[in-house]
Amino acid sequence: MLRRPHDYMRVNAIVACVSAFLWLTACSSREDAAPPPAGVDLELGRKVYVRVCQECHMPEGQGQVGVVPPLADSPVLRVADTRPLIRIVLHGLQGPIDIKGKRFNGVMPGQGAKLNDAEIASVLSHVRATWAGGAPAIDPYDVRNERMFYASRTMPWNWYDLKRLFKLP
Ligand code: HEC
Repeated sequence: MLRRPHDYMRVNAIVACVSAFLWLTACSSREDAAPPPAGVDLELGRKVYVRVCQECHMPEGQGQVGVVPPLADSPVLRVADTRPLIRIVLHGLQGPIDIKGKRFNGVMPGQGAKLNDAEIASVLSHVRATWAGGAPAIDPYDVRNERMFYASRTMPWNWYDLKRLFKLP
């Protein structure tokens, strides 16, 4: 029975405690919801970028005018299905691609022979974290699948074929 004012105060205090508890557990479970996949190491990814990608895509991901498209703010990095990105790094890319209103028509050599699955997942996770507004990390397991599936592929991909295959906008 709630007869005296401090009974109400006690109820209010309990409600406040329970809400605070629920709020805290909701917050912590939200953080737990998306731990980076096993094997992804953003610091390793940064090192791979410097060692392998930077000579073409440049230190700030700005690319080279008319020759190499930028990674900074590239919509390609934001794709929800990460297989096109994984394939570009594994097998390379060739032919026309339009990035931020500029057309490029070059060749990126595949890096699959040079980099293992964890290195590819880490470098892609690094460029997404840095230049794609923190788009989620990429799982080395998905890199492994693409590598196995296209084990005999030697040709680079073409961006417009990938777009069609993955129904990208
Ligand atoms: C030898 C130069 C070179 C290297 C090394 C290189 N790229 Fe590229 N990259 C290119 C070129 C050129 C294109 C555009 C190809 C085309 O015109 O179809 C490209 C395209 C891309 C694209 C799609 C277009 C865009 O701007 O979003 C991504 C993503 C990408 N590269 C990521 C990487 C990553 C990650 C690495 C390192 C693991 C890397 N590249 C290494 C030259 C390079």
